[in-house]
Amino acid sequence: MVDLKGQYEKIKTEIDAGIQEVINNTQFIKGPQIKSFEESLAKELGVKHVIACANGTDALQIAMMALDLRPGDEVILPVFTYVATAEVIALLGLTPIMVDVNKDTFCIDTDLIEAKITAKTKAIVPVHLFGQCANMDEVMRIANKHKLFVIEDTAQAIGSEYQFNSASNMMSVNGSSDEETTRKAGTIGHVGTTSFFPSKNLGCYGDGGALMCNDDEIASKIRMICNHGQRVQYVHDVIGVNSRLDSIQAAILNAKLPHLKAYEIARQNAASWYDELLGNHPNILIPKRVENSTHVFHQYTMQLVGVDRDKLRALLAENGIPSMVYYPIELHKQKAFEIYNKEGESFPVSAQLCQTVLSLPMHTELSKETVTFIAKNVISGIDSLLV
Ligand SMILES: Cc1ncc(COP(=O)(O)O)c(C=O)c1O
Repeated sequence: MVDLKGQYEKIKTEIDAGIQEVINNTQFIKGPQIKSFEESLAKELGVKHVIACANGTDALQIAMMALDLRPGDEVILPVFTYVATAEVIALLGLTPIMVDVNKDTFCIDTDLIEAKITAKTKAIVPVHLFGQCANMDEVMRIANKHKLFVIEDTAQAIGSEYQFNSASNMMSVNGSSDEETTRKAGTIGHVGTTSFFPSKNLGCYGDGGALMCNDDEIASKIRMICNHGQRVQYVHDVIGVNSRLDSIQAAILNAKLPHLKAYEIARQNAASWYDELLGNHPNILIPKRVENSTHVFHQYTMQLVGVDRDKLRALLAENGIPSMVYYPIELHKQKAFEIYNKEGESFPVSAQLCQTVLSLPMHTELSKETVTFIAKNVISGIDSLLV
């Protein structure tokens, strides 16, 4: 699904030098690489604060702790997402309130959010799934109206840019000039979170994550929580966690960050080649783009119509082509989340997506030739299953 070796070979000199520098100065924890990475990423995203942490799951948990969410508080999230989004909500004793997703974008269906808001609702967590932003005009409008926090799960969409229809939605949280109507994913809500898992658009060589925010007070609290709840060593003001990005991972990210835009373009090129080759097939729905967001294609996820997905995957695998199902089971149907399952509640769009989605290889090293090989196999595989 990814080619991390091929990507490394192209920037080997920078990566190796960065790692060697950490080994030479032996500041494996809290080395200078962390601060420089945080500053560079903040500049890249146009956000005041970036606080690095150990992974994207921790980032979500820390965001909720920093916003003082308390047991019993309800947090709205899409039912079609990676488990981490819901897991941290449950872990903190909060109640996950799941909402179905939009059939075209796979992101939270904003038309369904308000019906789920109660007196206990404290936050909305839009997930910018597969690389395209959720409808942030609506998320922010609803959050502002009901005085809710917004935590953007940007694990899959770093670099994606959202164009607001209305500057008033955008300004209510962060404050900005009238002319400015675009924001990078993760810098729109009260806090943004991301993951540097190796296969992510900006991935390190192990686990890593970060939080983004424009509010000085929240940022300071996040920093304190990441570091055992202390601002001064051995003085613990709040319960915190130990969540740090290693210096070696920061060095790798420092080497990769200048290439993020090129990586995005490589993914978008691969996506348009797939589109060209697969877009006319009657049994394939290629991923839809929305006007308000760029798509950074963390995944190229199509929907199959009337095709036996398992059989198609087996045919592709016979030809050495990997494929993945993100995600096969909706959150509320997972055993771990059964207790949050409300009698009679269903999520028809997510239910269908779990049956029909298929993600094809998507990474920065894909050539047109490889995409053509994959697409031809997808088409011949589907056609052979239909006869
Ligand atoms: C949408 C989403 N949220 C959160 C995470 C968690 O990130 P991590 O694996 O770094 O903990 C992921 C990782 O796959 C993700 O895709």
